[in-house]
Amino acid sequence: MINERSTAMLLGDSDAMRVLRERITKIGPARLPVLIEGETGTGKELVAQALHLASGRPGRFVAFNVCAIPESLFESTVFGHVRGAFSGATHSNDGFLAEADGGTAFLDEIATMEAPAQAKMLRALETGEFRPVGARAERRSSFRVIAASNERLSRLVASGRFREDLLQRLSGFVIKLLPLRDRREDIPLLAESFLRSLSLAGSRLSANAMRVLCRHDWPGNVRELKTVIERSVVLATTETISGATVRELLGDTRELIDRVPASGGFSASHERRTLIEMLRRHDGDAIATAETLGVHPSTLYRQMLRLGISSRERLAIRNEKRSPKRRSG
Ligand SMILES: Nc1ncnc2c1ncn2[C@@H]1O[C@H](COP(=O)(O)OP(=O)(O)OP(=O)(O)O)[C@@H](O)[C@H]1O
Ligand SMILES: [Mg+2]
Repeated sequence: MINERSTAMLLGDSDAMRVLRERITKIGPARLPVLIEGETGTGKELVAQALHLASGRPGRFVAFNVCAIPESLFESTVFGHVRGAFSGATHSNDGFLAEADGGTAFLDEIATMEAPAQAKMLRALETGEFRPVGARAERRSSFRVIAASNERLSRLVASGRFREDLLQRLSGFVIKLLPLRDRREDIPLLAESFLRSLSLAGSRLSANAMRVLCRHDWPGNVRELKTVIERSVVLATTETISGATVRELLGDTRELIDRVPASGGFSASHERRTLIEMLRRHDGDAIATAETLGVHPSTLYRQMLRLGISSRERLAIRNEKRSPKRRSG
């Protein structure tokens, strides 16, 4: 019963989703680590939460976003610190692994973990022991680790950016989430459910709108679908959301979607030009650009880094708007 409830938030009636829910109920209670791989917005965090619910573990689900932590703060954030360990440490702090004692430690965006942190993490995972910064003794915590990544870790291992032994350690079970475009049969159910959850009882999608949604490629996956539904509810002029409204919203991103990263085929220079064009349309505002694309700002920043678009370049785009010389239209 716990198990059924644990996967109830994972909507979708494709075979892939059904198999996923079954797997979660089976492996949830095991102690082994789980690695979840999938494109941005495919539901990795939601799956991690479902696994935690299915585990029946009494402790908390504690999420730690690896890429949001500067290297200098990694150890104290993950292993904790004692009072006086460094200047400014006026209180002791448990840290992420101790907080997850008896529960689940969710390591998000694990692919971005730097080499020194990988080594320290490996040791903590092997022994369940770690030393808080400034402490004399080791500390134990009984956490179950779940890690998530947008990138295939095996590829990073091949290119020397991720430790193979850490990958082995994390891969007790591996769950690969399909992109939404490879399970289009889930789109109607998800769209209807997001529409209902906005509690605008009157709104509904026209058959044409649904067709448009089902044909779209969704590089930002379920998160992007959710955003598009939210925006169509706001923009629709009638209770029935038309295909034209949805098309207009997707048109915003279509040019980029047609060309950008996901399944490849385009050269990096092409991707670069496209992303710059997209940033330009948002006057260099990365947050707004990420929102339009239905991806996390961190994902956009990573793409910028990969394509060599520097902050200086983005700021120049920003300043174009302020400059009186900029052409309008
Ligand atoms: N199967 C699903 N049923 C219902 N909602 C879903 C499903 N999959 C994803 N979502 C919703 O889509 C959004 C994105 O999901 P989530 O944050 O878990 O993705 P993610 O894979 O962790 O993305 P990222 O890599 O960008 O962090 C959330 O609002 C989540 O609730
Ligand atoms: Mg996530």
